[in-house]
Amino acid sequence: MKHLLSLETMTREDMELVLKNAATFKARRGQDDRKPLAGQSWAMIFSKSSTRTRVSFEVGIHELGGRALFLNANDIQLGRGEPIKDTARVLGRMVHGAVIRTFAQSDVEDFAKFGAIPTVNALTDDEHPCQILTDIFTYEESRGSIAGKVVTFVGDGACNVPQSWIFAAAKLGFELRIAAPKTFQPSAEVLKRAGGKISCSEDVRAAAEGADLLYTDVWVSMGKEAESADRLKALAGYQINSDLVKLAKPDALVMHCLPAYREKEISEEVFEKHAETIFAEAENRLHTQKAILDWMVA
Ligand code: CP
Ligand code: NVA
Repeated sequence: MKHLLSLETMTREDMELVLKNAATFKARRGQDDRKPLAGQSWAMIFSKSSTRTRVSFEVGIHELGGRALFLNANDIQLGRGEPIKDTARVLGRMVHGAVIRTFAQSDVEDFAKFGAIPTVNALTDDEHPCQILTDIFTYEESRGSIAGKVVTFVGDGACNVPQSWIFAAAKLGFELRIAAPKTFQPSAEVLKRAGGKISCSEDVRAAAEGADLLYTDVWVSMGKEAESADRLKALAGYQINSDLVKLAKPDALVMHCLPAYREKEISEEVFEKHAETIFAEAENRLHTQKAILDWMVA
């Protein structure tokens, strides 16, 4: 049985297969009669807000012939304290797969273990694997293989999105530079586990020099709202703006997983200049996740 819980545990071969099939799903949308989820029901358990992940999974499951049941964690007994392992053992007897957005990484891992059905991490505090597979697909569809390229992440380098970038870097052979204040850099332990060519620096300009892709994410991730004031202060210099873009390669892409906060992690000017890439990235969640689901049930 296959799960997608983390990019740390996904093999390079599986990543490459998903990226290749995402292109096919995108090219053949509306013409592909294959329904790998025919007759299946998939639970989507969300403990955090979502626009892109929710809609792309609901539409994707439908297009693959399955049915999605959206379950806000607060509407099911999970929100009243029923343990994740009991929720998993119940749902595992009723549905064919699960897509979970929550706080603790251990919750998606426990769900996969106790539910014994294919389980997808749709964002935890530690990782956002579907997002980063989509980002790599988006880079490659416009610029070719990401191997050997320089990806610069600017902002909160210790949250879920950069952590999934970290686990992809060694496997797909690109250099990853993380520009973040000391207290927002990934842990040495995560970097050691990932291996590969990854550097962390407080010098955002040096990190952007010659980059092929400049990437950012919100400064205040879901669940960190109480730290907003401190975060806005600490991360103030870590913005993708036109001065920074000038340091990257002339044809560098600028990407953002969204939602974006203008004049915080990215300037309005740069956001709008690169909006075509950023919204292609959002659309590509659909195609990439169809490839992920297809891979999981194969
Ligand atoms: N990028 C992303 O995961 O967006 P949502 O939070 O809207 O799902
Ligand atoms: N780091 C962000 C990603 C949102 C898609 C968060 O966790 O809120």
